[in-house]
Amino acid sequence: MRAAGDEFLRWRLVPPPRRGQILREIADALRASKADLGRLVSEESGKIISEGEGEVQEMIDIAEHAAGLTRNFGGLTLPSERPEHRILEEWHPLGPIGVISAFNFPVAVWAWNAFVAAACGDTVVWKPSEKTPLCAVAATRIAARVVTAAGWPKVFNLVTGGAELGERIASDPSFPLVSATGSCRMGRKVGEAVARRLGRSLLELGGNNAVIVLDDADLDLALRAVVFGAVGTAGQRCTSTRRLILEQGIAARFEKRLVRAYASIRAGDPLDPGTLLGPVIDEAAVRAFEAAVTRARKEGGEVLHGGRRLPRRGFYVEPTIIRARQGMPIVQEETFAPILYVLHAKSLDEAIRLQNSVRQGLSSAIFTSSLAASERFLSSVGSDCGIANVNTGTSGAEIGGAFGGEKDTGGGREAGSDSWKAYARRQTCTVNRGKDLPLSQGVRFDL
Ligand code: UN1
Repeated sequence: MRAAGDEFLRWRLVPPPRRGQILREIADALRASKADLGRLVSEESGKIISEGEGEVQEMIDIAEHAAGLTRNFGGLTLPSERPEHRILEEWHPLGPIGVISAFNFPVAVWAWNAFVAAACGDTVVWKPSEKTPLCAVAATRIAARVVTAAGWPKVFNLVTGGAELGERIASDPSFPLVSATGSCRMGRKVGEAVARRLGRSLLELGGNNAVIVLDDADLDLALRAVVFGAVGTAGQRCTSTRRLILEQGIAARFEKRLVRAYASIRAGDPLDPGTLLGPVIDEAAVRAFEAAVTRARKEGGEVLHGGRRLPRRGFYVEPTIIRARQGMPIVQEETFAPILYVLHAKSLDEAIRLQNSVRQGLSSAIFTSSLAASERFLSSVGSDCGIANVNTGTSGAEIGGAFGGEKDTGGGREAGSDSWKAYARRQTCTVNRGKDLPLSQGVRFDL
């Protein structure tokens, strides 16, 4: 942590486009390691190989985005009320950044933070999930090799440990920004510890994402998106589809098709390219799955498919569909497992109300062929989430947009768009080129 602080003093002096060149080399190094690192991600986290490689692609994408930023990010110049003055904004490096990440995207989420931070002139200390340390070591080595050859060996630093280490980072004033991904419980702790010392936190916490399917939707499209969103990554993305809100006219038909699709899902070895559903992360995740199914049943839910642990070695569970009733408390909760709750709605507005009725606010989607419906969903009285999609699912965002959500999801934004601003220090500068000293707001102070 001290090394990251010392290195910051040197790294911040490097011209941004030079930092960009280094980030481009990191993208190349990752491209060369894509198969190996993707496989390691898959082996250690259990996600299927295509998603493991996809995660490395996401790192490459953000490295290139960050490289491009270094020729682009700049501030505004603004009109001044005073003659012969101008106002401008400078964006300066912020400092060493703390990154706390989760097991489900064991390397990509670090890359979103680390590469954009490095582009801005910051150094990084990363505490990965205790459940996926190997990917973290590998990813750090790949990036560290490049920065070391370039002469700045301590831009990317790795520390491994548990919650106490996370708390240590959160409460350490040498980190002006702490970016944390994980549960709402964890985020609340980090957010409070950082706020206590008036630092900045960037929180990317739980989701409880819904897909709305209206009567006029293309059901083939909706079906594929819902299955990928709910079953992909074994339901362990923060963007996973957890709730399906069906308009009455198609509800019965869509449920039937969904159950048929679930029955065809191949569970098994995540390294086998034919597998669609790998294991969940550990025994505790299996137990959380079982507990959620039991609770859902008790609260009046009806299991339409799945609901059990799979009879094979490892942490496998059945992809599960539960028809839920409105107001069931379990539907408020994010269980990191492939459980999908199905709800029915009589109208678009009822569907939107249901979709917004949870504490989390990360991702959302609507399937419809009506322009008026999709525009209403995207309007200020539509989805209250950070991400709102039309005719594509809740998960699998590209890095180009800002990623994050509202309410209990924590409010942070990472990855593309202008998310880089979180990693920089804004300075407002007023410059007087004249021979007078006019004061703002017309104040007179004549000597
Ligand atoms: C996460 O689950 O923490 O949009 C990140 C997605 C991925 C990122 C998920 N690009 O599903």
